[in-house]
Amino acid sequence: MSIVSLKIKAMVSTIEWRNGVVSMLDQTRLPLEVTYFECKTYQDVAKGIKELVIRGAPAIGIAAAMGVALGARDINSQDFTGFYNEMEKISKHIGATRPTAVNLFWALERMKKVAAANKEKPLSVIKEILVEESNRILIEDIEANKAMGRHGAQFIKDGNTILTHCNAGALATGGYGTALGVIRAAKEEGKEIKVYADETRPVLQGARLTAWELMEDGINVTLITDNMAGYFMKKGMINLCIVGADRIARNGDAANKIGTYSVAVLAREHGIPFYVAAPVSTIDFTIPSGEHIPIEERNPAEVSHICGKIQVAPAKVNIANPAFDVTPAEYIAAIITEKGAFKPKDIWRLQDKV
Ligand code: MRU
Repeated sequence: MSIVSLKIKAMVSTIEWRNGVVSMLDQTRLPLEVTYFECKTYQDVAKGIKELVIRGAPAIGIAAAMGVALGARDINSQDFTGFYNEMEKISKHIGATRPTAVNLFWALERMKKVAAANKEKPLSVIKEILVEESNRILIEDIEANKAMGRHGAQFIKDGNTILTHCNAGALATGGYGTALGVIRAAKEEGKEIKVYADETRPVLQGARLTAWELMEDGINVTLITDNMAGYFMKKGMINLCIVGADRIARNGDAANKIGTYSVAVLAREHGIPFYVAAPVSTIDFTIPSGEHIPIEERNPAEVSHICGKIQVAPAKVNIANPAFDVTPAEYIAAIITEKGAFKPKDIWRLQDKV
């Protein structure tokens, strides 16, 4: 693995397959540096996912698929059974990185299915098919985000101010974004809009990523700390909230970055509609409710230190660091997908569209 620093700011892509290398925009270094993390092995990809070089549910799925394609190229087995067994090992390794975003497991399954469906072909051809499939997942994700934008922009009126939490933008996806994709689409329709971005402690995806991404795009953004959301809602300054999701249960309960639930509760208290934007690949049709969503517990150092550098808590203090929370379906006005916007209770109907 090598790290290449680029001094350019414009036209970044979150993830790209480039000549047998998976190149990820290093999101741990944004907004101060635009740097690419170059993965030459599937272990590099797994490390990139685990350490948040790439993050956001759809982007994690794309990275996982590219990781499998990368690993598959190095498999030496001569027959399909041996090849597939090795592929499963790669998939397991990548699948052990982050437990909450279901897109990761969705992408790994899709890659295995594609290999199995082509098992009669020479292994050299299957390896190429896997690379193509991972690129297809990337392209489909961008298309899904654009469709989500078209379906969701109706909820944003000219002059609205939108509150968002974490980063559900181009950086969290193949491009364009889910929640930020809806905001982009409203802007493209010519609506005057403003965004309030929660900083999103502890990892600061809102401050470091959403603020940066929206400024790059010329979208009016105001950064606030997480505990200011209620203040601005009470003042009548927020018209609607839109967030992304990492996993949505059959009943419409939605897991997203820690703090999302607090935003949803505040929004309900103030009569502000709260929307979730996510592709169908984020819906886990196998679980009946949000109680079944595994919540990742991350390193306490994310809480005790700012950006891993400045210590802000006493050494050895007890720390809890759940990375996600679940917003119950009844708090969500609509779930915006690439197939349309749905009441959370109707989301299970998309089961056949995966
Ligand atoms: O820990 P992260 O940064 O991967 O968490 C990301 C989020 O919670 C996003 O809001 C979510 O994945 C939606 S991304 C389109």
